[in-house]
Amino acid sequence: MPETSIGTNRQGKIDARRAGRYGIDAPLVPLLGSLAVIANLVLGLIQHASGPLIAAAIMAPALASYLYTTLRGKFVVWSRVLAGLGLRGDEQILDLGCGRGAVLCMAAALVPSGRVSGVDIWSSSDQSGNGPDMTRRNAAAEGVAERIELHTADMRELPFADASFDLVVSNLAIHNIGSAAGREQAIDEALRVLRPGGRLVIADIRHAGQYRKRLIAGGVRDVKQSSLGWRMWWGGPWLSTSLITASRPG
Ligand SMILES: C[S@@+](CC[C@H](N)C(=O)[O-])C[C@H]1O[C@@H](n2cnc3c(N)ncnc32)[C@H](O)[C@@H]1O
Repeated sequence: MPETSIGTNRQGKIDARRAGRYGIDAPLVPLLGSLAVIANLVLGLIQHASGPLIAAAIMAPALASYLYTTLRGKFVVWSRVLAGLGLRGDEQILDLGCGRGAVLCMAAALVPSGRVSGVDIWSSSDQSGNGPDMTRRNAAAEGVAERIELHTADMRELPFADASFDLVVSNLAIHNIGSAAGREQAIDEALRVLRPGGRLVIADIRHAGQYRKRLIAGGVRDVKQSSLGWRMWWGGPWLSTSLITASRPG
């Protein structure tokens, strides 16, 4: 498969290259990382000291990995994940913690007669420039504005009736809930709003084991966990992203 292709489903082809502008995840992390690299470089050069230069040389690839993942890698990976779902094109989809719409807009491109709802609290420390207006602009740039709707809400208390969605997705969002009880509440809510037979696809950097256990406790039998590989390393293999997939029993 070519690097930029996300493959095809019955609705045709979409591309991991994006027309919208999706910001940087947890922008403080690369900002502090860049400052640390620059400070060590300057110190090493001024003092002719090898220690700071070695530190800069170690930090720079980690920074590059983070920036690659947030700007490009997650789009390539999610484009493949979504294409692999074989959507019909008329599904009702929910994106938990949609932010500026990276996954929301790609999913919307695959459902010409469906709808994608995004839920978020729009935290700008979790994603730069976060906000519903930005997400709407991105949806317009991707040509899917008519297929999306945005809700300002906490994923622990979803403003939807039971069994409203065919597919619930979430990228890098649930771990932002600080307490284990809160994350379990989010998983329970995701299951509640799924139709029987509906699918759940979660990518996250932490707590995958907890999500898996909670889904199993909620009666889900086909929970699968896998690694999303180097394209979703956040600095290196020590901070990788797991994929959890499951479906609500029919
Ligand atoms: C790292 S960003 C990822 C955004 C988007 N999923 C993406 O892949 O670009 C995490 C998102 O989760 C949202 N978020 C954090 N806690 C949340 C909560 N309790 N309910 C809803 N959204 C939340 C943040 O506002 C942010 O938009």
